[in-house]
Amino acid sequence: MGDNKIVIYSPGRANLIGEHTDYNDGFVLPFAIKRYIKIEIEPSKRFKVFSQQLKKGIEFDTPTKTNSWADYVIGMIVKLQEHGYRVEPFTMHVDSDLPMGAGLSSSAALEVGAGYAISQMMGYEINREELAKIAHECEVEFVGVRCGIMDQYTVALSKEDHALFIDTMTREYKYVPLRLDDTKLYLINSGVKHELGSSEYNKRRHECELSLQAMGKSSFREVTLEDVEKIQDPVLKKRALHVVTENARVLKTLTALEDDNLVLVGKYLYESHYSLKDNYEVSCEEIDFLIEKLREYSNVLGARIVGAGFGGSIIVLAKGNFESIFEKVAASYRVKFGISPTLLNVETSNGVHRVL
Ligand code: GLA
Repeated sequence: MGDNKIVIYSPGRANLIGEHTDYNDGFVLPFAIKRYIKIEIEPSKRFKVFSQQLKKGIEFDTPTKTNSWADYVIGMIVKLQEHGYRVEPFTMHVDSDLPMGAGLSSSAALEVGAGYAISQMMGYEINREELAKIAHECEVEFVGVRCGIMDQYTVALSKEDHALFIDTMTREYKYVPLRLDDTKLYLINSGVKHELGSSEYNKRRHECELSLQAMGKSSFREVTLEDVEKIQDPVLKKRALHVVTENARVLKTLTALEDDNLVLVGKYLYESHYSLKDNYEVSCEEIDFLIEKLREYSNVLGARIVGAGFGGSIIVLAKGNFESIFEKVAASYRVKFGISPTLLNVETSNGVHRVL
């Protein structure tokens, strides 16, 4: 690429707590991590988009859907144009140290990163809420996954050393300091990704809509545990129970963080996991095995599955030398499943930013 190139870093996201609540008018507490999709962009005669990792790319004059990874970029061109932003042809190189399929939102990182890169090349400012909103439209309407807004907001708006508390109903957010001292957060990538993921995700959304209907409510914000108790269908009742209790856990976690009570934060992480496993049913055998093994160590304050579920990563809050605990857990995991989990030290990051 030439001297005109612009370089963007777009981070992945983890989530401390608040899972499957972002499409239910609920609360979430995610943060961006120092694992990035790196995007280089410069003007050119035709659109050219290359992936360094896949060692392939496409060229086109008119953006149309390809049903491939490039749709996250192509969809951003289409959506920016729909919102009245001019997009001239460019050459874009995409590279990444953010694992794909690990539940760390590489898709939102690519969407938000591509949108930000285009805006920088074209020389206009888009405010970050709008960028996140356009990226969310790209995912839902162009790519076709009916996700909530957590991932795009996190990639666009995060601040180092902070989690991002979002009220997904009003879309208001605030930064919550993560003062962890000698306690640390880790991510363990289970190395598994179950195929049924996206269809089950949309099914859960539908079940939440049905459970609202069963309670005669239009938003989970009006729902109490007494309302949930009245649901007859056992599956719908469990889904609603997860949403209501998870929202309460997010708020309790905020208080525990303010009080520097990390033991309590860890307890809520475990509770969140068991609710995701038993009520929302989005965990899997491999992840549950990791959680049970981790529970054997008192230095592990808490752990839970992260993101949509059905594989991917878990987040762990632990004191002391966690690496040695991980090695033991990883050894038994390898024996049982024949796959190696990987450990990622979590460092919080700013949202999408330009480095050149
Ligand atoms: C995926 C979606 C998010 C959110 C999580 C579950 O990551 O993209 O919007 O729903 O699953 O919390």
